[in-house]
Amino acid sequence: MSHVLVTGGAGFIGRHVTAALLAAGHDVRILDSGHPAAHKRPLPPDIHGVPVTHADLRDADTVGAALDGIDAVVHQAAMVGMGVDLADLPAYVGANDLGTAVLLAAMASAGVRRLVLASSMVVYGEGAYECPVHGPVRPAPRDVADLRRGEFDPRCPRCAAPLDPMLVDEDAPLEPRSVYAATKVAQEHLSAAWAAGTGGTVAALRYHNVYGPGMPRDTPYSGVAAIFRSALAAGRPPRLYEDGAQRRDFVHVSDVAQANVAALESTAAGAAAGGLRAYNVASGRPATVGELATALTAALAGPAPIVTGEFRAGDVRHVVASPARAAAELGFTATIPPAEGFAAFADAPLRG
Ligand code: UD1
Repeated sequence: MSHVLVTGGAGFIGRHVTAALLAAGHDVRILDSGHPAAHKRPLPPDIHGVPVTHADLRDADTVGAALDGIDAVVHQAAMVGMGVDLADLPAYVGANDLGTAVLLAAMASAGVRRLVLASSMVVYGEGAYECPVHGPVRPAPRDVADLRRGEFDPRCPRCAAPLDPMLVDEDAPLEPRSVYAATKVAQEHLSAAWAAGTGGTVAALRYHNVYGPGMPRDTPYSGVAAIFRSALAAGRPPRLYEDGAQRRDFVHVSDVAQANVAALESTAAGAAAGGLRAYNVASGRPATVGELATALTAALAGPAPIVTGEFRAGDVRHVVASPARAAAELGFTATIPPAEGFAAFADAPLRG
């Protein structure tokens, strides 16, 4: 049994992580800022019976006090998603990077040597691709003129042939393409520096597209699954950007929670003391955004999805993950296949 501090423990993923840690017999403490992007209502006094300390990670005194007697930190607190516009930039960097820096400094001084970090697949930018002629290649960001013409798939930088999407593994180069993505890369690097300086260990869990009960309703910070749910609840069809054939790995939040428990308990996680080890947290079964929309519409007998041809600046086309390292080193394999998870999510409660 470990004494664990869960940051962001009142959020969508943090609540599931808290429940899974408790079920695994750990003692849990929660710190959460109640950030308005994630919480439209005041924070509850407790989550699953665990009292919530309402504080921002940048409040060094409160963070230091919360670490008293703690063996490990499971760091979920962050501003997520695409945000509204670049006016969000200081808020993302402040919450995600300065917040993490204050947390790491407090852990260093409190002697806490174990960290499970909620990272993200956004650190990769585009997923992995292979050219039929030139083998593995890294495409440049898509050209807006191509997107306007409806050419959504990245092309080979050498011969312009259409590329095949491949499974991205943890050794892929980091290429953040949004403010949020840049803050997640920075969190990984700051945590690695902390590990090197303290002899601590970090498991960086690169979550793919997480969905499930308790997901926040439609906000500029929500993922597509919640956006589609909110549209259907209002009697509107899901609107597919591009042609709806873009692929993601949608992973159920209860599997994500189990990955956190596995990372906390695994002696292999973090590899050697003083290091960071990254893990994809994914279902291992890619789906298109269109398949997600069709599954939700079918389960709710809602209006059929509309292919809009619209696109979001900076969106990547396909990111599908290899779950092999987490299986081999953490013993974590997702248990909920997307078809089953999407059907259950169709009428799962969302958080207002
Ligand atoms: C983005 C974030 C990711 C975050 C996730 C959920 C970046 C680069 N990525 O990932 O970190 O975890 O949001 O907050 O910051 N789509 C539609 N219709 C819609 C909305 C979205 O077709 O109404 C499409 C998008 O164009 C995209 C896919 O759905 O192709 C997934 O979008 P989204 O859920 O926002 O996730 P990501 O872009 O994968």
